[in-house]
Amino acid sequence: MTLAACQAFPAAAVIRRGVKDALLPGSDLEHTMSEIDSTREHLIETYRKRARHYDITSQLYYPQRAHRRRAVQALRLRPGDSVVEIACGTGVNFPLLEQEIGPEGRIVGVDLTDAMLAQAQQRIEMGGWSNVSLVQADGAEFEFPTGVDAILATYPHALLPESGKVIAHGAAALCAGGHWVVLDLKVPDNTPRWLAQLGVATVGRSGSLDEWIVRRPWEAIRVAMQNTLADLSWIELFFGIAYLAVGTRGPE
Ligand SMILES: C[S@@+](CC[C@H](N)C(=O)[O-])C[C@H]1O[C@@H](n2cnc3c(N)ncnc32)[C@H](O)[C@@H]1O
Repeated sequence: MTLAACQAFPAAAVIRRGVKDALLPGSDLEHTMSEIDSTREHLIETYRKRARHYDITSQLYYPQRAHRRRAVQALRLRPGDSVVEIACGTGVNFPLLEQEIGPEGRIVGVDLTDAMLAQAQQRIEMGGWSNVSLVQADGAEFEFPTGVDAILATYPHALLPESGKVIAHGAAALCAGGHWVVLDLKVPDNTPRWLAQLGVATVGRSGSLDEWIVRRPWEAIRVAMQNTLADLSWIELFFGIAYLAVGTRGPE
């Protein structure tokens, strides 16, 4: 347990961080970064619009609750543990996490979108929790506290194109035996493209659906978890429309 590391973040506060260093004009890196920047801007705009009603609308088409419980159980938390939740959104998982870690534990919720974090802040106040910190940052650039007991990301969807980086940074920060858990949507294997588009649209994907289907971010997550963690467990849920991936940091 590494409360000291997590306590570096003030409780229940939204912290703004710089996004990236200056880049050489015209370089490939600059080109790639500007694509990432525009994806990021689009994403923030999308979730700003969704934030106020997110808790209701996100439950309409898909049985999230049971899967969220399963994801939190897979973290194998104990009272007093520290958890980083990447792309925490409105903090829907916070009550489940609080049940496991208790008041001695620590949650750091990280999200890109200010409006989603504002909803999370309200949830924290309603819950009366003094052990949750909120950080506004891109998960790919977030500096994980070292020795954290567990890391969770549920339905981060658009974390990519840098999801591999998020997984690797998190894996490096976990304590030995700590768990990295990702729960998200995917396209079921062997599904025709038109059916994939219909199915995923039905469960409420936002952003560029075509791009998401072509990019297949769940595959990058799987590879990154295989490369950086031990004992990867990959479970398909809801007819292959979702997956639960659990990796464990091996001994040093
Ligand atoms: C579908 S919501 C999921 C929210 C929450 N995890 C849940 O289970 O309800 C996606 C969230 O991911 C956040 N997000 C997407 N890409 C991100 C990134 N690169 N870094 C941090 N947050 C990101 C969005 O701002 C949004 O709040």
